[in-house]
Parts: sequence; structure tokens; C-alpha cells
Amino acid sequence: MDTVCLALQDLTKNFGGLTAVDHVDLEVRPGERRGIIGPNGAGKTTLFNLICGEFPPSGGRIVHFGKDVTRIPVYKRIALGIARTFQITNLFPNLTVLQNVLLAAQGLERTKYVMYLPISSFNHLYEKSKSRLEEVELWEKRDVLIKNLSHGDQRQIEVCLALIGQPRLLLLDEPTAGLSPAETLSFTTMLKKLDRDMTILLIEHDMDVAFEFAENITVLYQGGLIASGTKEDIKANKTVQEIYLGTE
Ligand SMILES: Nc1ncnc2c1ncn2[C@@H]1O[C@H](COP(=O)(O)OP(=O)(O)O)[C@@H](O)[C@H]1O
Ligand SMILES: [Mg+2]
Repeated sequence: MDTVCLALQDLTKNFGGLTAVDHVDLEVRPGERRGIIGPNGAGKTTLFNLICGEFPPSGGRIVHFGKDVTRIPVYKRIALGIARTFQITNLFPNLTVLQNVLLAAQGLERTKYVMYLPISSFNHLYEKSKSRLEEVELWEKRDVLIKNLSHGDQRQIEVCLALIGQPRLLLLDEPTAGLSPAETLSFTTMLKKLDRDMTILLIEHDMDVAFEFAENITVLYQGGLIASGTKEDIKANKTVQEIYLGTE
């Protein structure tokens, strides 16, 4: 039985003399919503880069549903269901929301001959794109040009694109950074409605957002995992309180 979606075992990343991720052990259950918090420079983004395969760890293992993925390339991890969000800057600014999603969906299809036919005739691509846009609450804005989307909607389309391959594990790195309180609220509301079978790891600088979204929280500090537990555990944790009061 696969009871663990993601296991990090003794995971370490050194950049020269700096240990960005320091012997981290972590287990995340399928369907779990896990928040990862910690001050700037704690190693949160580096942890995601290791999970996605952007660069190899200096030591330790990454196991996804029982499979050791520590040394396999990014594209193979994506095929296994590990997804992170695209940056909006990778999209076509003068195409609409729907056109961008259709192109991304088509890019995942093996049948490249579809390029020679009008894309709109491909019902399955259209239906797939429609479902994903509905999930992130952007179907109403399908005809808006990417360049005209608000910041909040841009973040939602980034999630939409990550969902196209129907990942089993979604990694979100500070998705609400730079959003207004209203945009943050609608983003978090959308996130909470996503497929409960999918596991979500959310890095958040904003503790309120992390606590609002996640059931369990992991705290990183100077590369090390200093606390992991329920929201209540984390709120009551003295070390966590000291770190946040001391650095924020
Ligand atoms: N590619 C890199 N090369 C060298 N140092 C890096 C690299 N990426 C991150 N670091 C360093 O690793 C530490 C952790 O960074 P990061 O993972 O971005 O932290 P966080 O996302 O928690 O703010 C920082 O000291 C940062 O400067
Ligand atoms: Mg970061």
C-alpha cells in the first residue's frame, strides 16, 4: 500500500560552504495539504528544487509513492506526477487564457499531428482545458488576453497549467506573494477546492495563509527542519515562536 506520497530521507544540499538544506526528513501522506514555512533563506525553495529535480542533492533520498526519484531528471518526475507552477512569463501574452491552456494541453499530447488541424476541433483538448480552467475559477475569463490578467488571475492560471498533467503532487512556492488581501483570499479559496486526492505542498512566507490552507505545517530554519506537526502544535512551539519573533 502506498501510504506515503513523498518521503525525504536525510536530504541535504550544499552550495559550496553553505548548507541550504540540512539533513531533512519529511513524510507527506497522499491528499495531504502541507504548509512549509520559515524565514527568508531557510532553504524552502531549495527543498522544492530538489524535489522537482532542478539540481541533485548533496546527500539523502527522495521517494515518491515508493519510487526512488533522487537521481531521475525533471521531465521524468513530471511524468510521474510531480508538478510545480509555471511562471506567467513562460506564457504567450498576446494569446487568450484559453488559447494558452489549449497549447499547454496539446504540448502534453503524444499525437503531434494535431498541429495540422484547427486546435478548437479537438474536443478532448478543449474539454480538458475547460475542466482545468473551471477548477481554478478562470473559465469566465477564458477570452481575456494573458497580458491583461490581474496579478491574482495570473497566479491562478499558473496553477491551472500545473494541473494539466493531472499531477499527484503539486508544489507551490509563495503563490500569494505580491497579491492584495482580496486576491490572496480568492486564491486560497480556489486552492482549498482542488481535488482532494492530489497532495499539495505550499511554501508560504505569510503564516496566516499557511495556517488557513494547510492541515499540517513544517518549519525550516537555516536549512534544518525544526518543527513539523498540526497547526496547533506549531503555534504552541516555543522555538517556532522565537524564530518568528526574532526575524520577522
Ligand atoms: N543556486 C544557488 N546557489 C548558491 N546558493 C544558493 C542557491 N540557491 C539558494 N542558495 C542559498 O541557499 C539558502 C537557502 O535559499 P532558499 O532555498 O532560496 O531559501 P528560501 O526559499 O527559504 O528563502 C540561501 O542562503 C541562498 O542564498
Ligand atoms: Mg524561496
